[in-house]
Amino acid sequence: MMKKTAAGADLSPNLAKETLKPSAFLNPVPVVMCSAQHAGVSDIITVAWCGTINSDPPMISVSIRKSRYSYDLIKNSGKVCVNLVSEALLKACDLCGVRSGRDIDKFAATGLTPVSSPIHGIPMIGEAPVNLECSVDRVIELGSHDMFLLNVDGVYVSGAIIDAGGKADLKKAGLVAYCHGEYYALGEILGFFGYSVAGADALARRTRR
Ligand SMILES: Cc1cc2nc3c(=O)[nH]c(=O)nc-3n(C[C@H](O)[C@H](O)[C@H](O)COP(=O)(O)O)c2cc1C
Repeated sequence: MMKKTAAGADLSPNLAKETLKPSAFLNPVPVVMCSAQHAGVSDIITVAWCGTINSDPPMISVSIRKSRYSYDLIKNSGKVCVNLVSEALLKACDLCGVRSGRDIDKFAATGLTPVSSPIHGIPMIGEAPVNLECSVDRVIELGSHDMFLLNVDGVYVSGAIIDAGGKADLKKAGLVAYCHGEYYALGEILGFFGYSVAGADALARRTRR
């Protein structure tokens, strides 16, 4: 008999699994646009192999192939801005992931606005809802990609997504996720941290279920 959760979702065990070739099959993941500058040259690279790796000090990582034009800009300057991607930015994000800064100036090609970052003076994408101004802590060679461990030195959030209480409301940012080669809008809120043990009031206030 089919097992269901209280909300009606199918919770039956899937025992007949197919075995796939081992790959980095973690899905979904964020997709970000990394902007960098060195010796007067700037570039934007789209990166999906990125993640949060530490809370205090705040650290994130991006994994980048040595062959990317932006690789040397980030390695040599030791600085990068990780720009979160909204639906409005998505086409530019994709373009920055299929064209190289060797061939085009990506700020000019996308029409995006380079804004000098407050601490390191590198270009942040003005149109992004959130900019994370970072410095490179370490670079780890892993094989196909080098993993840059980044210190988050500054966090800048668009005023349009700050709520009346002064907090960032990322629901208003229209952020995009990446899953198995496709970009997705974030959908309905299904739950929140601790909702499995939350009271009915909190559940009703914070979800539609
Ligand atoms: C959705 C998406 C995700 C990507 N993720 C990565 C990544 O994590 N690391 C990487 O090295 N390249 C990644 N790429 C490829 C680079 O963005 C692409 O090669 C780009 O043209 C490099 O630009 P550059 O030569 O100006 O640095 C991704 C591309 C797309 C479209």
